[in-house]
Amino acid sequence: MMLVTGGSGQLGTSFRRLLPDAVFPSRHELDLSAPDNIRSTLEEIEPTAIINCAAFTAVDRAEDDEATATVVNGVAVGMLAEYAAERRMPLVTFSTDYVFDGAGTQPYMESDPVDPINAYGRSKRVGEELALSYADALVIRTSWVISGTHPNFVATMMRLAATNDSLKVIDDQRGCPTITDDLAAATLRALDAGATGLLHLANQGATTWYQLARRAIELAGLDASKVAPCTTDEYPLPAPRPSYSVLGSERIDALGVAPLPEWEVSLPAVVEALSRL
Ligand SMILES: NC(=O)c1ccc[n+]([C@@H]2O[C@H](COP(=O)([O-])OP(=O)(O)OC[C@H]3O[C@@H](n4cnc5c(N)ncnc54)[C@H](OP(=O)(O)O)[C@@H]3O)[C@@H](O)[C@H]2O)c1
Repeated sequence: MMLVTGGSGQLGTSFRRLLPDAVFPSRHELDLSAPDNIRSTLEEIEPTAIINCAAFTAVDRAEDDEATATVVNGVAVGMLAEYAAERRMPLVTFSTDYVFDGAGTQPYMESDPVDPINAYGRSKRVGEELALSYADALVIRTSWVISGTHPNFVATMMRLAATNDSLKVIDDQRGCPTITDDLAAATLRALDAGATGLLHLANQGATTWYQLARRAIELAGLDASKVAPCTTDEYPLPAPRPSYSVLGSERIDALGVAPLPEWEVSLPAVVEALSRL
């Protein structure tokens, strides 16, 4: 039986739809911030494969609590991977574009050197390194994760556009929005293809937060002209964000894994689902 962590999160919810027979322990049942309990819980569940969607994803909070972020995103990932390696079972875990410094101008490939831009990125890098020390582990880097089921950037923009006369959105950060239903399906294709090691999976096409907001607001039937572009400097946050974090893959074709659709193709279903929440 497959075990999926983080089943209450955005990506985990997409896996619930695709894997109705998998087991989805709650954070209470399998708490990655308490790694000493991980092995005994896995021994009780006896999974045949592990998909780790759980993570400390509060990027700004990680600046003040890097220790906890590193346990959840690093140490615990290593323990899941160790358990899977001992039993020769597949393990997939997810990482982030924030392992790069964001100073690039060309899509980041799997072989590009990392230089995490913030504490969250450093904590995810620890998880990458620990998981990749086991030959059969699969580490999937993704970016700008959105779904039709949870509060996220698109949901916030739709809410603000419905209630505010004007809003400013950052236009000098470029990345790849990634829709969780597409990512979950592509992850299962990668597992079927026997992929191991590091793999970048994001929806095709790159954009800015401003352009993404405008498109989502238009799709929601709201007035996109009330959205104005702004710079990162105008919207300071505790954790630095990359100005360029477009992900590309030099591996996906060779693996025979069909790529994710263009983000603009998948966005309407996300907006429609969020409109119904
Ligand atoms: N969101 C993004 O923009 C983004 C970008 C790049 C990469 N990623 C990566 O993509 C993956 C999926 O992200 P997502 O957006 O689906 O995350 P999410 O919606 O924030 O969900 C995180 C999940 O992790 C669980 N969790 C948090 N702390 C835990 C702990 N100590 N023990 C066990 N479970 C814990 C949460 O449970 P509760 O519901 O109980 O809190 C939730 O189910 C993560 O690896 C993330 O780092 C995300």
